[in-house]
Amino acid sequence: MSRDDLELLKRFVEFVATKIRCVSVNEISENFGIDRGVVLSMLEKLEKQGFPLDVCDGGNYRFRDLDNLVSAQKYVEYLDTKLRYRVRYVEVCGSTQDIAIEMARLGAPEGTVVIAEELERGRGRMGRRWIASRGGLWFSLILRPPKMKYINLLSLTTAVGVAQAIKNLLDIDAKIKWPNDVLVDEKKVSGILIEGALSGEGTQYLVVGIGVNVNNELPQELRESAISLRNVVGFDIPRVPLLLSILKNLDKVYSYIYSEKVEEVLGIWKSMCVTLGRKVKVIAIEDVFEGVAEDIEIDGALRVRLGDGSVKKFYTGDVIHIR
Ligand code: BTN
Repeated sequence: MSRDDLELLKRFVEFVATKIRCVSVNEISENFGIDRGVVLSMLEKLEKQGFPLDVCDGGNYRFRDLDNLVSAQKYVEYLDTKLRYRVRYVEVCGSTQDIAIEMARLGAPEGTVVIAEELERGRGRMGRRWIASRGGLWFSLILRPPKMKYINLLSLTTAVGVAQAIKNLLDIDAKIKWPNDVLVDEKKVSGILIEGALSGEGTQYLVVGIGVNVNNELPQELRESAISLRNVVGFDIPRVPLLLSILKNLDKVYSYIYSEKVEEVLGIWKSMCVTLGRKVKVIAIEDVFEGVAEDIEIDGALRVRLGDGSVKKFYTGDVIHIR
């Protein structure tokens, strides 16, 4: 296969695998500027190479294994991204964070993703437990950022990547609550936990843990504050297109941060954020504060005007929107 053919094949797989709906031959042919006959022969070639296809109503196509997380590795190889992703699948584990941290310590490269169907001891922010039952998207991504000063920004940036993927793929209005909760209709659909280490030899890594409530049942006690995407759209969502869309978006937003184009990402974060301008209660490590969330600083801190008129910056903590 020539280099050009391989390039086209990659874009082709990415185009079809990052959609939850079936794609018509016409749409593919128009998008790539190629003949319908060429599209059909490429689809045939892909099927022979281990990409099983379903023919939907109206003769449209979709990959058949898009909810099978085992096939995620096969698809990420076709993503056009700067980060070289590779996926390690485990069916059940304590926390994907623990596996990814161990792998990072042993030298696993940036872009390594550990994904599981179910977590027995899922970890959330601020020492909380994260309930991760079957049907959700639970994964941890190893990053090796050139400078550790980016840690706060990477946390906000990850929320942008996840929220944009949900918005674009499912056409729903995903919002962000500081620092990195993704909400739909004020209920949490995704949480992000970043852990990291600076070892003695100077090897740095961060492990970005992302949990998305996709098709999983939430326990009764969480239904007031959280929701699964299936309950928002009304049907089961194949998880591989969502994973690929998140990884694709993260690749883009992280590259902004790595090349110090911080304002672009903060601009998008602000446009999706529902915390700014609101009266908030901030539960910080040392105390609880009340005030108005005024803005976000260039280093990712939340600037809050407290009741006595003073300004306090928060780098970590939990926010409750009061009104
Ligand atoms: C939060 O508290 O909002 C953060 C939740 C992060 C959950 C994800 S699921 C995948 C990864 N593995 C874990 O144990 N936690 C993170």
